[in-house]
Amino acid sequence: MIRHIIALIAAALTIWAILYMARLDMEVHRLQMIHDIIAKSKQEVKLSPKAAATPAPKPSKPAVSEESEAQKKLKVLKEKAGRLSAIEVSPLFRRTCSSCHGINAQGTQIAPPLVGKSKEYILQALHDFKSGKRKNYVMYGLLQHLSDEQLDQLATEISGFAQKLKAAQ
Ligand code: HEC
Repeated sequence: MIRHIIALIAAALTIWAILYMARLDMEVHRLQMIHDIIAKSKQEVKLSPKAAATPAPKPSKPAVSEESEAQKKLKVLKEKAGRLSAIEVSPLFRRTCSSCHGINAQGTQIAPPLVGKSKEYILQALHDFKSGKRKNYVMYGLLQHLSDEQLDQLATEISGFAQKLKAAQ
């Protein structure tokens, strides 16, 4: 009996998730269309000097506010979609590396990008930092807490980011 109820709830949740994603998709599409229409209407106004000379009965004001509203929504939805489709990273990478190197190892002002580097290169760098052969206090201190196995895992994972990012686009 309980099993049936759980199965039912799971099915309901799945359907809800699918419907939610479909709605999100439609919303993005609709906003994009509104945005395109507004962009087109703006162009027409610019192209005809006559219309600019005669003061039109304020069609610009609502259009502008509508546009910024639509753009805002579009931006939010795009960000949402971006987060949904961003590549998966391991908890270890997210916790220990992403704060400086970026969530997808794309690099930040603090640390260089790692994406696109080979596994061998990354692993060598990590061992050199850890042993102190390559001097960097930040990386040195950080890597003291990680095992060789974890370094290997990280090097493998990071060297796969470039391809994953490409596939996610
Ligand atoms: C507190 C900031 C910080 C964190 C956290 C951090 N790094 Fe770094 N990392 C740096 C800086 C700064 C450099 C550049 C050091 C240098 O080149 O001397 C660097 C360099 C590197 C390099 C060498 C890159 C190259 O082009 O030669 C690798 C590989 C690397 N980090 C991997 C990692 C990994 C894996 C983690 C997570 C375990 C990590 N880093 C966490 C700051 C950080």
